[in-house]
Amino acid sequence: MAKEKDPNLMEKVINLSRNRGFIFPGSEIYGGLANSYDLGPLGTELKRNIKDLWWKTFVQKRSDVVGINAGVIMSTLVWQASGHLENFNDLLVECKKCHMRFRADELGKDSCSQCGGNDFTKPTQFNAMFKTNLGPVESKENAVYLRPETAQAMFVDFPEVVRSARMKLPFGIAQVGKAFRNEITPGNFIFRLREFEQMEIEYFIEPPKTKKDWEKYFDLWLKEIRKWIKLVGIDASRVKEVDIPKDERAHYSERTVDIEFEYPFGQKELYGLAYRTDYDLKAHQKHSGKNLAYKDVKSGKEVIPHVIEPSFGVERTMLAVLLSAYSEEKAKSAKGEEEVRVVMKLPKAIAPYKVAVLPLSDKPALTKIASKIRGDLQERFVTDYDVTQSIGKRYRRQDEIGTPYCVTVDFDSVEDNKVTVRDRDTMKQERIAIAKLGEYLEDKLNA
Ligand code: GAP
Repeated sequence: MAKEKDPNLMEKVINLSRNRGFIFPGSEIYGGLANSYDLGPLGTELKRNIKDLWWKTFVQKRSDVVGINAGVIMSTLVWQASGHLENFNDLLVECKKCHMRFRADELGKDSCSQCGGNDFTKPTQFNAMFKTNLGPVESKENAVYLRPETAQAMFVDFPEVVRSARMKLPFGIAQVGKAFRNEITPGNFIFRLREFEQMEIEYFIEPPKTKKDWEKYFDLWLKEIRKWIKLVGIDASRVKEVDIPKDERAHYSERTVDIEFEYPFGQKELYGLAYRTDYDLKAHQKHSGKNLAYKDVKSGKEVIPHVIEPSFGVERTMLAVLLSAYSEEKAKSAKGEEEVRVVMKLPKAIAPYKVAVLPLSDKPALTKIASKIRGDLQERFVTDYDVTQSIGKRYRRQDEIGTPYCVTVDFDSVEDNKVTVRDRDTMKQERIAIAKLGEYLEDKLNA
């Protein structure tokens, strides 16, 4: 069935995620914690691979971007200066009958989803930052916040990065890490969470003399985002770029393009690209009283750079990737019966397991060779090892979790020192000498 037309795609991906250990509900043995999810062994590898690929693409391979890793808790003055304390609000309405709370912009003309009531309170401002206390005393002075975006540290640490890494404009500072938002209506599986991760770049440019000067960089980053979407395995035909009108943009943004994905529950934001002007550096300069200007080494001229910000959510990437990769194909079982083959067509770079080693039977002659092969491959890749059930069923299990290659050790292997390598997508099989296996797989996985 074509995945676009499959009305059960979301349910299938959620079930597979849970059954196979990608993503499951958090705190489950205590009845769960609303809208919190934990990553299982496969989800942990997938997330790590997505973040590694992002870092390799936007930091390692670029000479103009460096990374930082700041604290989740920053000085409260940061959030005063950035405007988050004042502006990071959602409009909240409450059902007068059952007291369920909703985001006003999401409620529209609907009635209460909890009790069907139609009478709501007037919208009030609700700040979405998580508040806690630094130290043992709960007080106004000790109040601190968990960061709602990773971006602010890139502004606060800007002078340290310029000085220590000797960066020259234009350049970017990147960060990957947790962000927290006390969302009024989290939901749609891992789409809207209260605790999530962001991968962000603040790209600093000379103050533009004309609109074209910043639009040039904005367009360059839009192209980078498009390339990333293909690289990470998100179905580009389901991605739309939406220019956000002024009244809906964040307080700091002069232009925002939302990169939206057609999720089964609607077309919604996947990533954002914003032109933040010099809003943040100026605000931090004003509030801190420190000079945050960039000094051109040659001319000695001081300027406050402007900023283009591509921002990527890690969990939304995971969701879009899983929805894009999930496919069902008609296939024949070992007995020749028609069956559905579920394949997670993940790009090799982000597949949780790169290789699965499968001895044809649990006879010691085979498991001894297979264990040795697995041990050797573990030096290079994250691998799986499976000896239970028929080989056909084991192939299907690996297809379902997106393992690009299966290595089968059979009775011929004992004689000829070769194994069968099966390709997830083509299902083609090749005999490869055990001595050359690691190199062979390395080439295939890096192709
Ligand atoms: N620094 C800019 C910024 O934070 P944003 O549009 O609020 O902009 C950026 O967030 C990205 O973070 C979003 O495009 C999305 O991928 C992700 N994101 C935001 N809120 C989220 C949430 N509650 N749950 C999961 N991901 C979220």
